[in-house]
Amino acid sequence: MAYISQHPTAAPVPVRIGLIGSGWMGAFHAESIARRVPGADLAAIADPNIESAQNLALELGTSKVTASADDIFADPEIDAVIIASPARFHSTLVAQAAAAGKHVFCEKPAGQSLADLDAALAAVDQTGVLFQIGFNRRYANDFQAAKKDLAAGAAGTPQLLRSLTRDPGTGSIPNAARIPAWTIFLETLIHDFDTLNWFNEGAEPVEVYAVADALVEPSLREQGFLDTAVVTIRYSNGAIAVAEANFSALYGYDVRGEVFGSKGMVQAGRATETTARRYTSEGLSADTPRLNVELFRQAYTDELVDFAAAVRAKRDGGPSPSDVTLTPGAADARRALAMALACIESVKRGAPVAVTERAAL
Ligand SMILES: NC(=O)c1ccc[n+]([C@@H]2O[C@H](COP(=O)([O-])OP(=O)(O)OC[C@H]3O[C@@H](n4cnc5c(N)ncnc54)[C@H](O)[C@@H]3O)[C@@H](O)[C@H]2O)c1
Repeated sequence: MAYISQHPTAAPVPVRIGLIGSGWMGAFHAESIARRVPGADLAAIADPNIESAQNLALELGTSKVTASADDIFADPEIDAVIIASPARFHSTLVAQAAAAGKHVFCEKPAGQSLADLDAALAAVDQTGVLFQIGFNRRYANDFQAAKKDLAAGAAGTPQLLRSLTRDPGTGSIPNAARIPAWTIFLETLIHDFDTLNWFNEGAEPVEVYAVADALVEPSLREQGFLDTAVVTIRYSNGAIAVAEANFSALYGYDVRGEVFGSKGMVQAGRATETTARRYTSEGLSADTPRLNVELFRQAYTDELVDFAAAVRAKRDGGPSPSDVTLTPGAADARRALAMALACIESVKRGAPVAVTERAAL
């Protein structure tokens, strides 16, 4: 036997990505880049917790480790960064990455105030780097299928929308005292706001009314910790939406979305870990996803596949690198943040708060 043909291969240079923040989410993204995203290399890891960075680098075979993201920004071999530090650092890191010419994938929220986010997005705009925000639900297969149905008009004119997040828990929240105030809006419901905006495409969120409490950890109510919230949202097309969240669902990680309209209803959200069902003398049962990285493994991977492909096209001058864009992007990050901030104001005032004038980019 002989080979049918032999020709020189010119493997494309992988997209070299630096990770900023090697905690829970950063470690999973790092593993995706190293093992699940074709044509991407995890080139460097930065984390002030150097032990965390080193352990991850050892596990994934990454050679460059640093305590400071500045080293990654200064490294000419790095094409792009994934920002997965705590949220309070995001806008500064986005601005620094853009100034250094690095393409940016940023976990949500990309900022904690509109002024900070706008400054970061202005840097992105000026330098022309790519920017993607980690609203991973847009990449989940079932949410994508629902979006396709909605785009085809399956629900007709949207009248009611619903999105919910119930984080997995045990009935108490071990590190609750260390969770920053307003996390439920800025880091949890911000996903739901983006889903609703995406499902109700073309409409702008006009007004929010948020009610929130500490029902899982009532002892922390006094210090302002909130673990349960419901938000009603009015949209410019007249549709009314509800978003709700709770930090401790005993049955697992529960994320759903729904649009009800003049022609019908479209739902997304996977209640069980697999399609397997147990029928026994006890009745019917199934396993449920227990972690975000179980429920959204495919979505977390695919969002980075898209990011890496866009960075490659931009870097290597594909068919039309100037046309390379990514969604969810800057406008989506800003619109959802404006809603989260309006919710905080709504809770403080105990009244509805207008969001329209603050939402558009
Ligand atoms: N998309 C999702 O579903 C999802 C899920 C979980 C978390 N997140 C987001 O990911 C981000 C990180 O959350 P996490 O749960 O991984 O937190 P984490 O606390 O587990 O990890 C944060 C890491 O960042 C490091 N860090 C602190 N300051 C830093 C800096 N200036 N530069 C670099 N690294 C720094 C910390 O040492 C820590 O290792 C948050 O914005 C969170 O909202 C998103």
